[in-house]
Amino acid sequence: MRLPSTPAYDLEHWRRQIPLLASHIPMNNCSQAPQTLATRAAAEQYLESWNTSGMDWDAWMHEVTRAKQAFATLINASADDVALFSSVSEAASAVASALDFMRARRHILVSDVEFPTVSHVWLAQQPRGARVSWVPAVDGAINTATYAALITDETALVSACHGYYLNGFMQDVATITTAAHARGALCFVDAYQTLGTTPVDVQAMDVDFLATGNLKFLMGVPGVAFLYVKRALIETLRPTVTGWFGRTNPFAFDARTLDWSTTASRFDAGTPPIMNAYIARAGMEMIHAVGPAKIRAWHEVLGARLIDGGRARGLTLHGTADLARKTANTAFVVDDSHQVEAELRTRGIIASARGPVIRLAPHFYNSLDDVDQALDALAAVAPPAAQGVHA
Ligand SMILES: Cc1ncc(COP(=O)(O)O)c(C=O)c1O
Repeated sequence: MRLPSTPAYDLEHWRRQIPLLASHIPMNNCSQAPQTLATRAAAEQYLESWNTSGMDWDAWMHEVTRAKQAFATLINASADDVALFSSVSEAASAVASALDFMRARRHILVSDVEFPTVSHVWLAQQPRGARVSWVPAVDGAINTATYAALITDETALVSACHGYYLNGFMQDVATITTAAHARGALCFVDAYQTLGTTPVDVQAMDVDFLATGNLKFLMGVPGVAFLYVKRALIETLRPTVTGWFGRTNPFAFDARTLDWSTTASRFDAGTPPIMNAYIARAGMEMIHAVGPAKIRAWHEVLGARLIDGGRARGLTLHGTADLARKTANTAFVVDDSHQVEAELRTRGIIASARGPVIRLAPHFYNSLDDVDQALDALAAVAPPAAQGVHA
C-alpha cells in the first residue's frame, strides 16, 4: 500500500507555530515537546495577569478547570471526572492511597512496560499489605493474553501502561481492562506516551484510572498532570493523599471537617500549578485542533518511514515493527546512547537517549524529510559496524 507523503492537515501551518523548527529538528517528543507560539502566549497570559492584577484567583482557578476540560475532551470524559497533579507519580500515589490492601484483594499486577515511577508507587504499597507481581515483557513487548492468566480473585489493581517509554510498544488496553474486570480487579493506565498521538476513549477502553503528564505529546510543560477516575468509582474512594482542594467546598476553610468532593476533585490536594495549567490547556487545544485521528494516521506514516529507513541504513530496531502496536516513538539500539544524543544535537537533531537505545519520536508537525534527516544523521554518528551490529 502506498502511504501518503503529507498528513490530512496543513503541515506548514502547524510548523509555523514552532519557532525551534527554524534551527533544529525536534524528534524528542517522548521526552519534551517543543515550545509553540500558543504555549508561549499562554505562559505570558498568566505572567501578565499576575503582573497587572497582583492576583486573580477566580480567573486562575477558572483556567485550571479549562485545563481539566481540555484533558477530559481528549479522553471522552467530563471535567468532573478529572483531578490535577504535578506529576504522574503523585497521581498514582493518590490512587494507591485510596485502595485498601489489608483485605481480600492484596495483589497488584504490574506490566513490565511501566515507566519506573509508576512501578515504584505500587512497590511502595508493600508495607500497606500489597503483594506485587509482574507481567513479563519478551523482546520489548507483552503478549496481551498473558494478563488473563496472571489476574486472580485477589488482584486489586492491574497497572497497564498504554505506551512503553523505552521502545514505543503500545498495549491493547481494552482487552486488558476486560480481563481485569472479569476477576473484579481495577485497571490503572498511564497514557503519558500515547495521549496526543492517537484517539483515547476511556469509555470504550473502560479504564478505571488514566493518568498522564503534559510535556510530551500534549505539547506542554513539566509540573502538571491529570488523572481520570471512572464516575462509578469516585464516591467509593477516599485518597489519604489529600488536601483542601479535595473538599466539597475548599473555600469553607473548615479545618475540623474532612468531607469529600462528589467529583474526581476529591483527588485534588493543594493549590494547583496555575501557570502550568495555562500552558497545558493551550497545548492540548492544539492537539484538539489538529485532531488525534489525523495525528495517528500521520504517525503511522512517520513510523513506517522510521522502521523501513532504519532497516535500509542497517540500524537495529528495539521492540516491535508492527505499526498497529506502536506509539510515535521508534527506538534504535546503540552502544552509548548519551553520546549519540549529544552528537545528533551538534547536527541539529534533537533525539532522546534512554538506556540501550536512542529514541526518535516525531509528532504531528514533523515531515518525512525530518525523519530522513534524523536517520541519516543517526547512521552517520552510530554506524552499524561501529555498534557491533551488522545489517
Ligand atoms: C510513560 C511515562 N510515565 C510517567 C513518566 C514520568 O512521570 P512523572 O510525571 O511522575 O515524572 C514518564 C516520563 O517522564 C513516562 O514516559
